[in-house]
Amino acid sequence: MGSAISTRSLTTDAWIEALPWRWTPWTGAMMMDAGSAETPNGDYLDRLMRRGSFEALWPLFARATKPAKEMTESYSALLHLRPFLREHGPCRAIHIGDGAHARTAAMFALKSDAENISVDPLLNEALVGGWMEQFGIRRFTWIKARIEDAVEQLNALPPMPTVVTFVHAHVAMDPVLDRLRWDAAFTLACCSPGHQLTQTRVAREHGEDRSVLSSGRRFEVLLNRPTNTASTDRVSVFLERAADVEG
Ligand SMILES: C[S@@+](CC[C@H](N)C(=O)[O-])C[C@H]1O[C@@H](n2cnc3c(N)ncnc32)[C@H](O)[C@@H]1O
Repeated sequence: MGSAISTRSLTTDAWIEALPWRWTPWTGAMMMDAGSAETPNGDYLDRLMRRGSFEALWPLFARATKPAKEMTESYSALLHLRPFLREHGPCRAIHIGDGAHARTAAMFALKSDAENISVDPLLNEALVGGWMEQFGIRRFTWIKARIEDAVEQLNALPPMPTVVTFVHAHVAMDPVLDRLRWDAAFTLACCSPGHQLTQTRVAREHGEDRSVLSSGRRFEVLLNRPTNTASTDRVSVFLERAADVEG
């Protein structure tokens, strides 16, 4: 197996760093490494690590046993929902089962204009509050509670386009979405796909995200509105663009 080497040792051209190259000793050539249908790839991690926001993300993700896994899971949520954030301008993002360190809300706060609310009964308020203060984070708040106990509070907020994330959340998503006000949702399943993937809705998009560096990489994007030809075409265009230009 060839090991990847830094492109810096081969060229100083900045643009080449944006490409997914790898060294293959048996060919002696630089080859494109886009991953395959079967193997995961480091695309999300590479993109995240090249950005200035990585510095602020790192203190929260470094606390994870597997930071690359956690980062790529949250980034998958951002990329899949970004079209809906852009389409609607100012909006709200509710991150359900976001864990003690509210990492998906943190990523959206740093890399989108959404108003973020992290919901988890285990959220570490002291740690997340300290992190917000340290990095001057805005558009971020939390509810330290089970989502079932927070629905009324969330639905009472001023109406605004709302996206929802369930990133490896240990939550039965369909009953929650039945009660919540929302427009688009992203779910990434881990140990309980029967609850973490929809059983009652038709996903707008679904599949295995090979850029998520964990074994649980089955995702769905759900829309809380009837689909028609026009809106479907528009969503496709946004999705393609989001994959190209994410910052
Ligand atoms: C496997 S952890 C995932 C945490 C985080 N999303 C991540 O990927 O690192 C599952 C989380 O779901 C949360 N959870 C379980 N039941 C919940 C509920 N009813 N409402 C909100 N969060 C819940 C747990 O507290 C836990 O933090």
